[in-house]
Amino acid sequence: MCAFHRNTNGHMLVDSKPLAEIADRFGTPLYVYSGNGIRDSFNRFKSAVSQVPGKVYFALKANSALGVIALLARNGSGADIVSGGELERALMAGIAPADIVFSGVGKSRNEIAQALSTGIGQINAESPAELDSISSIANELSVIAPVALRVNVDVDPDTHVKISTGQRSTKFGISNNKHEVANLYRRLHDDPNFAPAGLAVHIGSQIQSLAPFEKAYRALLNLGQSLRGEGMPVPTLDLGGGVGVSYDDGSTTDFTDYGALVQRIFKGKGFKLGFEPGRAIVANNGVLLSEVIFVKHGDNKRFIIVDAAMNDLLRPTLYEAHHNIEPLNDLGPATGFADIVGPICETGDYLGKQRKMPDLNTGDRIAVMSAGAYGAVMASSYNTRPPAGEVLVLNSEVHVLRHKRSVKSLLDEESIPNF
Ligand SMILES: Cc1ncc(COP(=O)(O)O)c(C=O)c1O
Repeated sequence: MCAFHRNTNGHMLVDSKPLAEIADRFGTPLYVYSGNGIRDSFNRFKSAVSQVPGKVYFALKANSALGVIALLARNGSGADIVSGGELERALMAGIAPADIVFSGVGKSRNEIAQALSTGIGQINAESPAELDSISSIANELSVIAPVALRVNVDVDPDTHVKISTGQRSTKFGISNNKHEVANLYRRLHDDPNFAPAGLAVHIGSQIQSLAPFEKAYRALLNLGQSLRGEGMPVPTLDLGGGVGVSYDDGSTTDFTDYGALVQRIFKGKGFKLGFEPGRAIVANNGVLLSEVIFVKHGDNKRFIIVDAAMNDLLRPTLYEAHHNIEPLNDLGPATGFADIVGPICETGDYLGKQRKMPDLNTGDRIAVMSAGAYGAVMASSYNTRPPAGEVLVLNSEVHVLRHKRSVKSLLDEESIPNF
C-alpha cells in the first residue's frame, strides 16, 4: 500500500484528496505529506521492535516540520536531534526533554549547555574532547550529564558513500582500536559530572540489507556486555537509524525482518534499546508537487523544465538519487524519454534524467515521489528562490505546515552596509 495512489480516473490522490486540487489551492512547488502514512509507518516500526524494551526517537534531520514532529510525538515518538535548532523544534512540537537524544560529531558549548539545561535524556558523545566539554559544562551548571558513547564499529553499510557513517575512515564515533571505548567509558563512570547512559551506533542511511545491521549490533552488544563484565552500568544500547526504503516503487516499508533481527540479537540480554529511524518513517509519505514551465526540445533530448529545482529537492544532485516522477493526471502512455529539470543555472539541477514520460506541456503538474525525507529540510534559497511550502494531509484535511517563503522575507534577512 502506498500513501499516494491513482484513482480509476487516473488522478493522483493522497487519502481521498486529489493532489491537483491541493496544487490548485496552494500553488507549486509544494511538499505534500500523508499524515496517515507517517503515523502508520511509525506505529509499524514501533510494533516491529516492541519485543525488546526500548524507545523510538524519530530522527528530526529527515523531516523536521513542526507539524510532522508533533504528529509523531502524539504517537509516542521521542526525537533524535543533531543541533540546538532541532532541540528547540522537538520541544516546541511537544516532545519531553527526557525523550530526546542528542547525536552529532560537533556539538558547540552553547548547544551542550542548552541541552543540559533543558534536562535532555541522552547525549551521544563522539570524542574525548567532547567528553571534556560536556563534563566542564555540566559542572558549571551543577547538573549530571546523561552521556552515551557513540562507537565506530567499522562496518560498511553498503550504501551511498556520502551517507555511510560506519567505517573507520569516517569522522563518526569513537574507534574501538586500542580499547579506547572501554577507557572512555571508564571515564564516564568515574567522572561525577556524568551518568553513563550506554553505547550508541549509527552506521549509515538507506541501508537495504540486514547484514550490516547484524554486524554492527553484534559488535555493540559484545562491547556492552564486556563493559558490564567490568562492573560498569550500561543501561542502553542505541541502535541508530538507517533502515532503507524503496525509491523504485514507493511501497510501504515492511519492518518485520528488521524487528526479528533486533529480537534475535537483543532479546533477554537486559539492555534497553534506542532506535533513531528517519527516512523509513517519512520518505515514501511525501511528494513534491511541481508545474511544467516549458518543454524544450534540445538537439538530442526533451527537457521538461519545471518550477521545482535543486534548491527544493537536493537529493538527485547531491546523491544521484532516483525519485519516480509522475504526472498528477493521467496523460496517456509515455511518448519518449525526457530529463525533468529545474530553472537553476547548473547542469546538476535536475529532478530526473532519461525518464519515460508522456507528452507534458506548460501548466501540467507532476509529483516527485518519495520526497518526504531529506527533502524540504535540505532546501535552500539558491538563485534567490524561496523554498517550497509544506502541507500535511490528515484524514483528508489539508493542514499548512509552512508557507512558501517569499522573496521579501529572504531580502528582509539582509542589509546593505553603509559603505
Ligand atoms: C545519528 C543518526 N541517527 C539517525 C539517523 C537517521 O537515519 P535514517 O534517516 O537513515 O533512518 C541519522 C542520519 O544520518 C544519524 O546520523
